[in-house]
Amino acid sequence: MKLSIVILAAGLGKRMSSDLPKVLHKLADKPLIRHVVDTALTLQPDSIHIVYGHKGEQVREALNDININWVEQAQQLGTGHAVAQALPHIADDALVLVLCGDVPLINPKLLQKLCSSHEPHSLGIVTVKLDNPYGYGRIVRNELGQVERIVEEKEADNCIQAIKEVNAGIFLIPAAHLRRWLGALNNDNAQGEYYLTDVVDLAVQENQPIYTATTDNVYEVMGINDRIQLAKLERYYQTQQVKNLMLAGVTVLDPARLDIRGSVKTGRDVTIDINVILEGDIILGNRVKIGPNTMIRNAKIADHVEILSNCVIEDVVIGAGCKIGPFARLRPEAKLAENVHIGNFVEIKKSTVGQASKINHLTYIGDSEIGSQVNIGAGTITCNYDGANKHKTIIGDKAFIGSDTQLVAPVTVGEGAIIGAGSTITRDTPPETLTLSRVPQKTIDGWQRPIKKTR
Ligand code: UD1
Ligand code: CA
Repeated sequence: MKLSIVILAAGLGKRMSSDLPKVLHKLADKPLIRHVVDTALTLQPDSIHIVYGHKGEQVREALNDININWVEQAQQLGTGHAVAQALPHIADDALVLVLCGDVPLINPKLLQKLCSSHEPHSLGIVTVKLDNPYGYGRIVRNELGQVERIVEEKEADNCIQAIKEVNAGIFLIPAAHLRRWLGALNNDNAQGEYYLTDVVDLAVQENQPIYTATTDNVYEVMGINDRIQLAKLERYYQTQQVKNLMLAGVTVLDPARLDIRGSVKTGRDVTIDINVILEGDIILGNRVKIGPNTMIRNAKIADHVEILSNCVIEDVVIGAGCKIGPFARLRPEAKLAENVHIGNFVEIKKSTVGQASKINHLTYIGDSEIGSQVNIGAGTITCNYDGANKHKTIIGDKAFIGSDTQLVAPVTVGEGAIIGAGSTITRDTPPETLTLSRVPQKTIDGWQRPIKKTR
């Protein structure tokens, strides 16, 4: 059977107190709704429909790389009404899976279970058992344990309020039935809304089988309504991710002080110290060591690299055996070959550094190609920008750049060349020579130091 997934995302999200639509708030640096869509895609559906309302343009924009049928719900008249807006786009022979855009951590395995238990004409519901079911629709079962109806919090009497099994808001329903049942809904209830949950009554009246897929992990079905819940779910998600990393063989000095906002692939015996943030796509080779207080975004880091404390690293490739930091900044398109040393207060941008070169202190390298076994002295600056355009600095293998040198690009330093400390280099320097630009030193004998005047 064809599978059509309908994601409800038209709610206002008032309690977020935000200008941003609720489903665009981020969990692990990814919008809530994208978590849901990514999970939906794992089920390989024939179509995905998102019901949007409030500030829908922004939501569409945020997902413009995915093939989605966008359905507007101009007025938020309830979950049943929301699903009804998508139905004209869905064929009668399809199965409809309803998800919520604000339930980001719905477990794909639970959805697979729901889908695989489905029989023709049956209605599937995801339920969860909660110690504190307040606010959720309760699952009411008969003496045989069969689901009879769902009662919303606002409609529930004391007896029903005591029920701990609740509706997670996720349903699997054959489209033809859904069409008939949604047509029969009314809004004669405490909230004056068309409740999707009322389809259960209609299924019972028609004697259609109802089955449930149940979890006891509240986080898997937790909807985000405010920023406190968002923070709670973020912590849960981070705990899970760090656990997975540790199970994959990574030593994490404090699991509560590592955040992962993307995907991390690791080799063996990686060690991560405290207060580290890993963002985007990250690959860490065997025995990589990351020191405390470091932020890394989109990086490919080879075996046995050591990153000392307080580094900021983004969009880089780091070769095996490199040593970085403390206090180093590697900016986009920095590419280091093997065994490179980058020391404190060094910034590298859009540059390649050849193997075993050393740039150990207080230096800016931008738009450069640096050969292998080069030594760059403290305080070296590639002057890559003339105020209008960027220019390239090329430094040959085994060159030695004395401290406090400015290399005014475009400029090339030949292989094995030596630049005297304190030079301003404006022209290419030949290989294997010493070049320096330095005002001759002079000493004035018998010079009298000024003396402070007394009144
Ligand atoms: C709903 C369920 C409740 C369940 C709970 C689980 C109903 C009547 N109740 O309650 O049984 O326990 O979810 O979280 O379905 N939405 C729209 N358009 C609307 C109304 C809602 O798109 O007109 C969307 C919201 O953006 C949200 C989802 O539907 O993503 C659920 O709506 P919400 O108002 O949060 O329902 P609850 O009252 O929490
Ligand atoms: Ca809700």
